Amino acid sequence: MCGILGYLGRDNAVDVLVNGLKRLEYRGYDSAGIAVLQQGRIEVRRSVGALRNLEESLKRESLFGTTGIGHTRWATHGKPSEQNAHPHCSGNVVIVHNGIIENYLTLKQRLENEGYVFESETDTEAIAHLFAFHMQERRSFLQAFRAGIRELRGSYAIAGMCEAEPDMLLVTRSGCPLVLGQNENAVFLSSDVTPLLAHTRTVTFLEDGDLGTLTPRGVTVTDGEGRPISRETSHVDWNAEAVEKGGAPHFMLKEIHEQPEILLDTLRGRYSYDAGDADLLDVTIPLETFRQVRRMWIVACGTSWHAGMVGKYLLESLIRRPVQVDIGSEFRYREPLVQEGDLVITVSQSGETADTLAAAREAKRLGARVLSIVNVVGSTLARESDGVLYTRCGPEISVASTKAFTSQVMAFYLFALHVGRTCHVLNPEDGRWWLDQLAAVPGYVEHVIKHEAELVSLAKRFYRKRNFIYLGRGINFPIALEGALKLKEISYIHAEGYAAGEMKHGPIALIDEDVPVVVLAPRNQLYDKTLSNLMEVKARNAPVIALVSEGDHSRDVSADCVFAIPDCHALLSPIPLAVALQLFAYHVAVLRNIDVDRPRNLAKSVTVE
Ligand code: G6P
Repeated sequence: MCGILGYLGRDNAVDVLVNGLKRLEYRGYDSAGIAVLQQGRIEVRRSVGALRNLEESLKRESLFGTTGIGHTRWATHGKPSEQNAHPHCSGNVVIVHNGIIENYLTLKQRLENEGYVFESETDTEAIAHLFAFHMQERRSFLQAFRAGIRELRGSYAIAGMCEAEPDMLLVTRSGCPLVLGQNENAVFLSSDVTPLLAHTRTVTFLEDGDLGTLTPRGVTVTDGEGRPISRETSHVDWNAEAVEKGGAPHFMLKEIHEQPEILLDTLRGRYSYDAGDADLLDVTIPLETFRQVRRMWIVACGTSWHAGMVGKYLLESLIRRPVQVDIGSEFRYREPLVQEGDLVITVSQSGETADTLAAAREAKRLGARVLSIVNVVGSTLARESDGVLYTRCGPEISVASTKAFTSQVMAFYLFALHVGRTCHVLNPEDGRWWLDQLAAVPGYVEHVIKHEAELVSLAKRFYRKRNFIYLGRGINFPIALEGALKLKEISYIHAEGYAAGEMKHGPIALIDEDVPVVVLAPRNQLYDKTLSNLMEVKARNAPVIALVSEGDHSRDVSADCVFAIPDCHALLSPIPLAVALQLFAYHVAVLRNIDVDRPRNLAKSVTVE
């Protein structure tokens, strides 16, 4: 986890670093720090807790320097504390690190024997001492850096600077993201592009093993042996406002409200109405191969896994092919029976989730093709997959994923349509009918957002409850899981998502007048069955919140509260239902005074196992 940042230019690095770290806080926020070269000396400032604590400390005692590095931390080795916060120094070297050094204990022992004193509990400090150790042998910083990284095992993105060579920043990566940027006045490094948008749109994504040298003359990339490597530059068209809150009190709310527009973006330019087909030009796998696909798998983590489950229901019901869904961390270790000719679809907002990446690599090793549904352009998963279907939802800053989820589901609709057409399960007329349905989805979401006040009232009525149960059937079972996950992530209320028909096999024992049950009951072929489950809950005195289709009055008698989504095709109901549950969770969390964008213990991008 963690976010790293670096600046070398003419302005005060402190301002650039602090403002940039604000964009990276989603990667971890239990402590933060910066180091700048002030009159040739490394000056470090670190604080526990949110970045504002670091800002306060910099206000009390200011720093100035035109070269610097910064870090926002999500603890892996050692608790959140000032000592464990980055940057870490040794001699005249200072570094920041994202990732985990697996052999740090061996390194630590060796370096302690050499006389180095460890002040923190982190694995990172071993890297700083290692570089300093190599510098002692009269090597340049670059040589010491190279020699040091050769000894590291694990995952890392590292940036460092050194008093002896003040006009230079060095960076490298292995398994953690790193991007470089430059304009006429400065060079930058960062864990992702968002902090760079205020300064440049031209960026270079580094690959594992790359070593970047940033100087006033620009950026050069070499391999570990010093051989030059040419890495393409990319143009990023996200605008800087996209990463601001845009007047909303929280990123989460802003991102929920963005969904109608984003769902349009996911669709935009990606279909041919005449052919009644999705036109996934940017997917580099020849899509005809889907006809020969032996078996399909979907692998993801967290909210993306829920999108994958929706994808399974969708693909199976639209194209009548079996699809297996797996959690990344399970898939990678259970010797999955993947074979050549299989297609493994990995789903990830960040494209950096360690378990999903490992699953994709395992699938490739076993001979499968990997198609990824990813948001972050140029992310590791995107680069390593045979094909990528980008969700185009823009930067998602809120830790609780909202717009990434619905855009992933939208990507599955497009993908399923295309596979259906390619395999001749759907004819052009079916395809056109589907495209009409998909075009209506942003409007369904708008409808839900327009009725947000009803969800606020529901939140006001129930926010003090300690337990919730969410029930759904078929394609809305994953939405019950996602609704429950959203609530627990940001409101710290215990919530369980369950398949409605399974409730009687256990969770029914939990139900009483103090456990609200959210029942997803839009009009579909399982409606009557879901309604029976609702009645079973009601019979046990639980307060029932029913999410139904507009115009459905039969539920009025049984549910305590009702929220209506537009009356849409059953397979499309997951998106408006998910948005309603996102808003409900958001308002519950706000009423409970929780820092919605920074829920405790969570991180946006989980780059460790
Ligand atoms: C973390 C985030 C979740 C996200 C999951 C998978 O747990 O807090 O919101 O769904 O990682 O992330 P990915 O980037 O792979 O979609």
